[in-house]
Amino acid sequence: MLYADYNGSAPVSNCVKELLMKKLDQCEYANPNAAHSIGQNLYMEQENCRMTCAKLLGAKSSQIIFNSGSTEGISHIFNSLLLDAKENGKSSLMISSIEHPAVVNNAEYYCQLFGMELITVQTKSNGEIDLEDFKNKLNPNMAMVSIMAANNETGVIQPYCEIGKLCREANVPFLCDTTQLIGKTSFNFNESNIDYAVLSSHKVGGLIGSGLILCQDANNLRPFIIGGNQERSLRGGTQNYIGIASFACALESSIKKLEQLEELKKERINFEKTLKEKFPSLVIFGEDAPRLASTSFLSLPGTSGQKIQAKLEKHGILVTTSSACCDQKTSISRILENMNVSEEQGAGAIRISIGHSNPKEDYAKIYSALCDIYQSL
Ligand SMILES: Cc1ncc(COP(=O)(O)O)c(C=O)c1O
Repeated sequence: MLYADYNGSAPVSNCVKELLMKKLDQCEYANPNAAHSIGQNLYMEQENCRMTCAKLLGAKSSQIIFNSGSTEGISHIFNSLLLDAKENGKSSLMISSIEHPAVVNNAEYYCQLFGMELITVQTKSNGEIDLEDFKNKLNPNMAMVSIMAANNETGVIQPYCEIGKLCREANVPFLCDTTQLIGKTSFNFNESNIDYAVLSSHKVGGLIGSGLILCQDANNLRPFIIGGNQERSLRGGTQNYIGIASFACALESSIKKLEQLEELKKERINFEKTLKEKFPSLVIFGEDAPRLASTSFLSLPGTSGQKIQAKLEKHGILVTTSSACCDQKTSISRILENMNVSEEQGAGAIRISIGHSNPKEDYAKIYSALCDIYQSL
């Protein structure tokens, strides 16, 4: 099988597989908060992982809160910032029109709960958020801004450093959903102007159910899961130390292999170019915008993305029609709708997202399968 759904979930890295085998072999299972020697060893290991992640992400260890992944991180930050904002009489919050459902649904939930106004920044037809619209709408009475760093469907990279700078000038906290960006391009938290960022381990080759929050100052966060004193009492519950160790190892491996991803980018550009030459009506969403190295979201108008997906699977190639969590829906993707893409173009959309472990020949295989499929329609 040729797996081309890295944006949905990346395969577990080889280094993680080795680590897990070693851990299972060692039989060192304990609560990392226990005072006995195994517990203390695991705690030390966990704190070393925190340091590794911090270094890789351009942050300090004290700026990392381990949790179960991006959805939890996003919910935590919304909860904390919106409770603060309610007390401080703030009346609105702003998100973009291409956010992941974790952001959209939290924003809608808290706006309804606290009677706040939800303001949405428009997206340009190339998938980038409209900065002029953002500047016009941003105001100091906002509880928070939540805008992603890279879109999960199009792979379009947003100008998050600039957004962060504008938020700081307006004194509005900025949550940036970095789930799709980290591990796929370089990133430095303390140079990014972001106040809060989130990440899921399974997007970089770690295990599902593990993730982290990066925060400028953890003292500004309220606790989200109330329990023991783990994670500075901000996120109670026994730490998932195997998940954390796998996360640190996968993150390190994916960041070390960023150069390989850049090599793959050349293949992706060539793949898109040759496919367009063969099928001139083919549309590449976000074509002229800065994009993740290995994401292609494309459509041959008049086709059905779901049918193409099923046919590709028969060729042994696994893709999605939009994001994995919306893949079963028959309507066109909300992201494409908000980029003003027509029904005809949107209906044919398929997302191809690969990673550094794919050999570069994979693009040639996808090209050949797509040519066969499109020509047979
Ligand atoms: C941009 C983005 N944000 C948030 C999430 C949620 O991540 P998780 O399901 O790991 O909590 C995803 C997952 O696809 C994503 O792509």
